[in-house]
Amino acid sequence: MINLPFRSDDLATVAYSVFPENRGQGVAPRAVRLLARWALSDLRLKQLILEASEGNAASIRVAERCHFRYVGTCSGTVEGDRQERTVVFALEGLGSAGQ
Ligand SMILES: CC(C)(COP(=O)(O)OP(=O)(O)OC[C@H]1O[C@@H](n2cnc3c(N)ncnc32)[C@H](O)[C@@H]1OP(=O)(O)O)[C@@H](O)C(=O)NCCC(=O)NCCS
Repeated sequence: MINLPFRSDDLATVAYSVFPENRGQGVAPRAVRLLARWALSDLRLKQLILEASEGNAASIRVAERCHFRYVGTCSGTVEGDRQERTVVFALEGLGSAGQ
């Protein structure tokens, strides 16, 4: 599953999940690369945002393999009695001032 929720006309977030039995085979990075190319080239979005929990090493690895750049780490969501920090990545389209 891969989603592209829009935050504005030219900015969207990428979110993904792979069934447990299919993980570790490069499915997510392939899907993210295909979606990113389509969103930045065909849809002409200026920027994609990818957010991962700080403890989600597999998801952070997906962002890195897809050449998203690290933006920063923020306080994120509260899970029970602990706060999980969120790592934020971005990928800009060609011609974007953010490159
Ligand atoms: C995150 C997720 C989408 C990755 O999908 P995938 O198709 O298995 O991705 P990959 O096969 O490329 O594996 C991810 C990378 O993380 C590594 N990895 C996998 N599990 C890991 C773990 N527990 N700790 C560290 N690295 C891990 C893999 O070895 C791979 O790294 P590599 O490129 O250096 O070999 C999948 O684990 C998932 O669906 N998780 C639950 C939902 C989720 O967390 N979604 C993302 C929300 S931001």
